[in-house]
Amino acid sequence: MTKYSRITGTGSYLPPRRVTNADLAAELAAQGVETSDQWIVERTGIRARHFAAPGVTASDLGAQAARHALEAAQVRPQDIDLIIVATSTPDMVFPSAACILQHKLGIVGCPAFDLQAVCSGFIYALAIADSMIKTGAASKALVIGSEVFSRILDFKDRTTCVLFGDGAGAVVLEASDTPGILASDLHADGSHVGILCVPGTVSGGKVLGDPLLKMDGQAVFKLAVGVLEDAARAALDKAGRTAADIDWLIPHQANIRIMQSTAKRLKLPMDKVIVTVDQHGNTSAASIPLALDAAVRSGKIARGETLMLEGVGGGFTWGAVLLDF
Ligand code: ACO
Repeated sequence: MTKYSRITGTGSYLPPRRVTNADLAAELAAQGVETSDQWIVERTGIRARHFAAPGVTASDLGAQAARHALEAAQVRPQDIDLIIVATSTPDMVFPSAACILQHKLGIVGCPAFDLQAVCSGFIYALAIADSMIKTGAASKALVIGSEVFSRILDFKDRTTCVLFGDGAGAVVLEASDTPGILASDLHADGSHVGILCVPGTVSGGKVLGDPLLKMDGQAVFKLAVGVLEDAARAALDKAGRTAADIDWLIPHQANIRIMQSTAKRLKLPMDKVIVTVDQHGNTSAASIPLALDAAVRSGKIARGETLMLEGVGGGFTWGAVLLDF
């Protein structure tokens, strides 16, 4: 039986249209919605985000990110035997974005499914792929986070539309005799459905209810900081490590203030935290693999270093994965 799973390649993809805060403020002003670069930067740390062109889907972005991860891992698409796509903005109700992406990559036959845990989706997907590799159900997995959140934003609601962006990140996770993923910790609490949701649904050929994102930002903020510390500490305990062993913290990129609070609670300096929220905004399930790939490709993260990945999002869901890279 395989002892570990290990990330052997990372990749990401951002749609080409980059929208700065000033660009967005100007677009919103034309619709009578007032915001500013200063407000967005001070409250969130976000300076720009990318938006996909009309018709571009989560499977399109995810397939590009997956191609880059496959190249980095030097794995051929036909050798992949598991595909998990974490997304809350799939191409269609069904089939899954994972099946559509599988076809785009020219892969036939391996299991492929979507995982819906909103902003924690990539952490859930990575933990599940790790379990499947450890049980022998898979040996070379593509784990992808891909979102087109711009499709579910209410551009008349300045409290939410300035926060999110589109993009995708991917890793190739392979069976290995050496670590690897050391521990993971996953949680959900459905009593908080109302503080972050897209309440609409499709029924009888119509969208029933509101198909756009709703959020109580302050309630999300308070919950997020506490659970991120708990999940990180639980994963460290399971692996017999301490926060001092973490070389890089790669939190879900929602808001720089949430990341600063989490780092402080773990007694980690901000120069050990990978930050891409300034350039990507909150890309939900894509944010962690996007940040990971950016840090790997820039040379910040090196092989052998210990990484703490952690996410929190709608559901409420949260979790952490500790790994040696
Ligand atoms: N531009 C200008 N003013 C704004 C904007 C905007 N885009 N949005 C809100 N305001 C105004 C409000 O109307 C309010 O005005 P008032 O005082 O006259 O009533 C004022 O700014 C303060 O609003 P608050 O909601 O109190 O601002 P807060 O400091 O809480 O910041 C924010 C809001 C950024 C959403 C914060 O609560 C937050 O980051 N929460 C975490 C939520 C999050 O990151 N969610 C991402 C999804 S969940 C996840 O990924 C984990």
